[in-house]
Amino acid sequence: MEKIYHIPALLQPTIQGLKIRPDGTYVDVTFGGGGHSRAIMQALGTQGRLYSMDQDIDAYANRIDDERWQFVHGNFRYLRQFMDFYGEEHIDGLMADLGVSFHHFDEAERGFSFRFPGPLDMRMNQKAAKSAADIVNTYDEEQLCRVLYLYGELKNARALAHRMVVARAKAPIQTIDELVWAMTGCPRESVGERPGIKKELILAFQALRIEVNDELGALQQMLLSARDLLCPGGRMAILTYHSLEDRIVKNFLRSGNVEGHIDKDFYGNILTPFTVIEKGLTADAQEIEVNPRARSAKLRIGEKK
Ligand SMILES: C[S@@+](CC[C@H](N)C(=O)[O-])C[C@H]1O[C@@H](n2cnc3c(N)ncnc32)[C@H](O)[C@@H]1O
Repeated sequence: MEKIYHIPALLQPTIQGLKIRPDGTYVDVTFGGGGHSRAIMQALGTQGRLYSMDQDIDAYANRIDDERWQFVHGNFRYLRQFMDFYGEEHIDGLMADLGVSFHHFDEAERGFSFRFPGPLDMRMNQKAAKSAADIVNTYDEEQLCRVLYLYGELKNARALAHRMVVARAKAPIQTIDELVWAMTGCPRESVGERPGIKKELILAFQALRIEVNDELGALQQMLLSARDLLCPGGRMAILTYHSLEDRIVKNFLRSGNVEGHIDKDFYGNILTPFTVIEKGLTADAQEIEVNPRARSAKLRIGEKK
């Protein structure tokens, strides 16, 4: 059976929410399998333009053969620099569908999933310097605990971090099997039958992935650039899958800054560069049945004033 690269979540509401101008310039900062990008292309006229970014070169296999389309291989934290390079001072809309694609979870050698044996990698950009193995083997116990607690919201973060440190003192933890064994004391193949342990591992893997790819830092930098690049009336549509990234987007659209600091005018009116158009739309039961990974998707849309 042919592998599916990705199934886009909340496709129609995202594209409709962008209110695409046929002759506008748009950016999809998370190209992946290209599902959202293709839908944007369909809404564009002959003068329209779409830049699709991805830091994972694997996504280029899904390229769109169209002269109105440009692939940008890079991290969206450098959105502003890439747009400068292409001579785009302003854009009419931007979307982001954050996190990883099915492709990442389904390729054993990328090391994102404990469904398979594989290296402890988790880098979206295969050329990035820091892998999950580097974090697991070099962070001190306190740093490991912070990652697991903050990004995985794991109540037993301290115990898990301690187990990693004890295990790596005997030999470096280099593979998914070794990490699962260090954290749970049982073989990787058996965790599927133990729901409590499986849930804990899902959260721990998510936490490491967020740290490896500095996902929250990249998101904040991208939002600031998007704010400055968007034309009045231009919209940004952001799909999040994690409470921390959702909070960042929510506060950013309310305040216009990453600190979430609300400025008010003399009369007490909130001063923000955005009108909030969509406050956290989620997938309906029908979509979740076809695409269970859409369950945690949340769509927020803001329009630049
Ligand atoms: C959820 S998938 C996007 C799926 C896409 N919307 C589709 O329809 O197939 C997220 C993609 O964004 C990429 N990505 C995540 N963070 C990124 C970043 N900081 N810079 C560039 N690409 C990133 C990942 O490599 C992945 O391919």
